[in-house]
Amino acid sequence: MTAASLEPLTFDPYDYRFHDDPYPTYQRLRTEAPLYYNADLDFWALSRHADVTAGFRDHRRLSSANGVSLDPAAWGPHAHRVMSFLAMDDPRHLRMRRLVYKGFTPKRVAEMSDRIRELTLSYLEPALARGRFDWIDEVAGKLPMDVISELMGVPEPDRAEIRRLADLVVHREDGVLDVPMAAAHASIKLITYYTELVAERRKKPADDLTSALLDAEIDGDTLSDEEIIGFLFLMVVAGNETTTKLLGNALFWGGRYPEEYAGVVADDALVPDWVEETLRYDTSSQIIARTATVDIDYPYGTIPAGAKVLLLIGSANRDPEAFADGDSYRIGRPDKAALASFGAGVHFCLGAHLARLESHIALREFAARVRRYRVEDAGIERVHSTNVRGFAKLPIVVEAR
Ligand code: HEM
Repeated sequence: MTAASLEPLTFDPYDYRFHDDPYPTYQRLRTEAPLYYNADLDFWALSRHADVTAGFRDHRRLSSANGVSLDPAAWGPHAHRVMSFLAMDDPRHLRMRRLVYKGFTPKRVAEMSDRIRELTLSYLEPALARGRFDWIDEVAGKLPMDVISELMGVPEPDRAEIRRLADLVVHREDGVLDVPMAAAHASIKLITYYTELVAERRKKPADDLTSALLDAEIDGDTLSDEEIIGFLFLMVVAGNETTTKLLGNALFWGGRYPEEYAGVVADDALVPDWVEETLRYDTSSQIIARTATVDIDYPYGTIPAGAKVLLLIGSANRDPEAFADGDSYRIGRPDKAALASFGAGVHFCLGAHLARLESHIALREFAARVRRYRVEDAGIERVHSTNVRGFAKLPIVVEAR
């Protein structure tokens, strides 16, 4: 038996174009093809919840060593140079993850709460005072990178420039399936900046994540400067735009379903559910790639050794086997535990607690001040990316409480 044919429906890596379509093609694949092969781009894709989550846990047969992204420049045995331990297999991956975890602890993240609230209000309040503003430009696009800079110990005067570079690193051109030159240049500048930051902290430690990573030690093993710089850069790629997109998607769907948002306004205990439902219904990282190390048999076909395999998170999150009425956006749904949005197994998102903390704070402060809001559809722009799904522009008009 071979992988299902998808004619006339085909996987479109530029799915961002369909911003009004609540069912991007790679979410729809699950009903049409549990296993799908794309000959143009030469990848396989798994779409069912059970296969996607089992795929995440099967790190021996589905390797991360060639990277996890569709971008050709970030694919291959050197992917770890840009993606650090996200693009490594155990035992190399496990060694680095354990050392990083020594510095990037839940306690360090929890201690950020007050500062995250202050940062949120410094962007949100002036924007709300105007009544009409772009949620991405003014809040969602600023907060995550500034929180990461705060954690790392980047001095305040440098943060706007760091944010500008981080935005360039993740920017992609319409219809081009690779990393643009401007992104490559910005990456070099950021790496140079982090190299200097690490050198400074080595001379004069401070109470920040960078210094904690320099201190991290397990049985005499420590992280090299290069490894720390690689991790700092990974935070920009993995933790910045994913959280921006989550904040944008939450407001987009809250605007499309005002009765769901009204529930949050009436009871702010529903804010975490707003976040979870957005992560399920329309998550930032819709696809993650792997490489098959051996032939892998499924009831629907065989993925050959060496193949690029996509785990379709967005599709898994709508699977009727895991979520009742999965195509409905329902804040407070009871069956949220199966969420695939942060991955599973050895590469489970290291920043899930930070992403949740940040989005809980930002959306709680928003709902505490805004009775109703409307998204101005004419001004919406989606990002051009195969890695993340979300908005570059999301203009809104708000009515204060
Ligand atoms: C909504 C926000 C986020 C989403 C949807 C998300 C999603 C994911 C996913 C799916 C993975 C697994 C990748 C794989 O299996 O190959 C992952 C890994 C990772 N994430 Fe996140 N992430 C988010 C926020 C963050 C934040 C805020 C940080 C840190 C500041 C972060 C840091 C990481 C790191 C370091 C890894 C690699 C873990 C490993 O390879 O062991 N993420 N993330």
